Amino acid sequence: MNVRVQIPPVPPRQSNMGDKKILCIGLVCLDIINVLDKYPEEDTDNRCLSQRWQRGGNASNSCTVLALLGAPCAFLGSLAPGPVADFIVGDFIKRGVDISTVAWQQEGETPCACCVVCTASGSRTVVLSDMNLPDITATDFSKVDLTQYSWIHWEGRNAEEQVKMIQQVALFNMSLPQQQRITISLEIEKTMEPLYQLFPYGDIVFISKDVAMHFGFHSAASALQELYHRVKKGAVLICAWAEKGADALGPDGVIVHSDAFSPEVLVDTLGAGDTFNASVIYCLSHGGSLREALMFGCQVAGRKCGVHGYDGIVEQKK
Ligand code: ADP
Ligand code: FRU
Repeated sequence: MNVRVQIPPVPPRQSNMGDKKILCIGLVCLDIINVLDKYPEEDTDNRCLSQRWQRGGNASNSCTVLALLGAPCAFLGSLAPGPVADFIVGDFIKRGVDISTVAWQQEGETPCACCVVCTASGSRTVVLSDMNLPDITATDFSKVDLTQYSWIHWEGRNAEEQVKMIQQVALFNMSLPQQQRITISLEIEKTMEPLYQLFPYGDIVFISKDVAMHFGFHSAASALQELYHRVKKGAVLICAWAEKGADALGPDGVIVHSDAFSPEVLVDTLGAGDTFNASVIYCLSHGGSLREALMFGCQVAGRKCGVHGYDGIVEQKK
């Protein structure tokens, strides 16, 4: 059953994280978003309904949503100095995302995506130039003061280096009592073989519908059942499936499901997955159950699909 979100989603409990932040590691890019009423034919000359610049990239978008939800958060990724980075930094600051750990690269260009969002279907089509800006390394990560974070989320990219970063956190965690340890989540979104080595490293592992389908599965539940052996003992595997909502599987072997929460009008699905991930992380880090987190994730992601960009996905206090 699809339920419309009538009221702003409210997190189930208050945070017990103190003032520690959630750190998201991965891509930031510029999205140049063209809104059209229908997807253009190849080799035609079209006018869009509107066009805007928006800060994009999965980890960066998840920071936007965490900040809107009121969670202290930080972004770690690469930027190259220049006008595109100026725009991106301005937007991070406007949203209240901490970017003190950003790796400023001497070579390469800040990635840029041309996006087409169709209002008729809500579809998003992305062409990203992500070519020559070096990704952050385990050496960059070793400069991060881990005591500032309660949760670190990795968007799967340069997996070999990311494994080394996660191992640094695992080592740090060993010196701490259970309740003070950093939770590790990661996202395997792209169907790229090297990313699959990340499966055993997350406490929470998000996989995309694309990845599930790449492995030959036609539903989130079957993907979770068959891929669960790849995660570490005690971990939770989560798979979002667009308008079908999302499923999760934890160590108790029970599949948890949430239906999607369809907006009144579907207008923009760009970043729906990043919104879902951020909202699940937010809810779990505030003491919510897996079921509550899935439902909260689908509620906030559903609201996002009903608006252009991110403003309006969470009711702001007047
Ligand atoms: P991505 O942006 O990575 O492709 P998905 O399409 O899997 O992400 O969507 C993530 C979540 O966003 C889904 O679990 C669902 O809650 C919500 N969502 C996505 N598309 C729709 C839709 N068409 N209607 C309602 N909710 C949607
Ligand atoms: C949305 C997004 C966009 C970006 C693209 C990169 O999930 O992060 O902001 O252009 O994906 O793959």
